[in-house]
Amino acid sequence: MLLEAAGVTKRFGGVVAVNAVDLAISQRQAVGLIGPNGAGKTTLINLISGQLRADAGAIRLAGADVTGAPPHALTARGIARTFQGVRLFKGLSTIENVLVGRHVRMRADALRRLWPLGIPDRADRDRVRALLERVGLTGRAEALAGELSYGDQRRLEIARALASEPRLLLLDEPAAGMNPAETGRLRDLIRALIDEDIAILLIEHDVRLVMGTCERIAVLNFGRKIAEGGPAEIQSSVAVREAYLGSEDVA
Ligand SMILES: Nc1ncnc2c1ncn2[C@@H]1O[C@H](COP(=O)(O)OP(=O)(O)OP(=O)(O)O)[C@@H](O)[C@H]1O
Ligand SMILES: [Mg+2]
Repeated sequence: MLLEAAGVTKRFGGVVAVNAVDLAISQRQAVGLIGPNGAGKTTLINLISGQLRADAGAIRLAGADVTGAPPHALTARGIARTFQGVRLFKGLSTIENVLVGRHVRMRADALRRLWPLGIPDRADRDRVRALLERVGLTGRAEALAGELSYGDQRRLEIARALASEPRLLLLDEPAAGMNPAETGRLRDLIRALIDEDIAILLIEHDVRLVMGTCERIAVLNFGRKIAEGGPAEIQSSVAVREAYLGSEDVA
């Protein structure tokens, strides 16, 4: 198993944002994480990526206990993420933003360590250009990230996450702000990444995208995992329908 979260719990004051959640992801697997607003989806990703520390429970990555490990250590071990509210260096160019994501994989000899963001060599630059091509941003390589359209910024976030060569990619609502054509390309990209042995945890309100990419879907409601199964099972689940009642339709 690539990722195993067991009994993971996070409280904010009186709110139990994530409540004793178990979640397992194997290699080459895309798992969807859905649930109404405030269900605890982003908090769970923050726990897996080390942005938050769990109050209880354990997280294992490829068999190693990584509970409480800081984000940079988890990045080095192969976890990368995007953020629900895009977090880019808006004053840096598109290509520079991806180079920042590449930093963890750059060679760090004594001279290179003097520069805070590292000095990219030819191979790093080639790889970054290939990633921009992959997400459809080649023509915008020199543009400032802050000048990109919202959909382009979301794609840039994915390229930056991929630059660290993750084994597990955590995507927090990557299709938000995308038009249907962009969402279609995102779906193709997610499928291609799975074929390349990258496991994915996908938070999405676009249920069609989740159903079209994920073989298994976990459903959170008020911090608890209330259902888990294949797309058909989740679509016909009474518990899931009740959780969504009044917020949105999963059908
Ligand atoms: N830093 C924080 N401090 C206090 N409460 C928080 C914090 N982060 C999240 N919460 C609370 O924890 C609960 C879960 O929030 P979370 O953002 O994980 O939900 P979500 O499922 O990602 O929702 P959405 O679909 O709206 O993004 C909510 O009640 C939220 O208000
Ligand atoms: Mg969220």
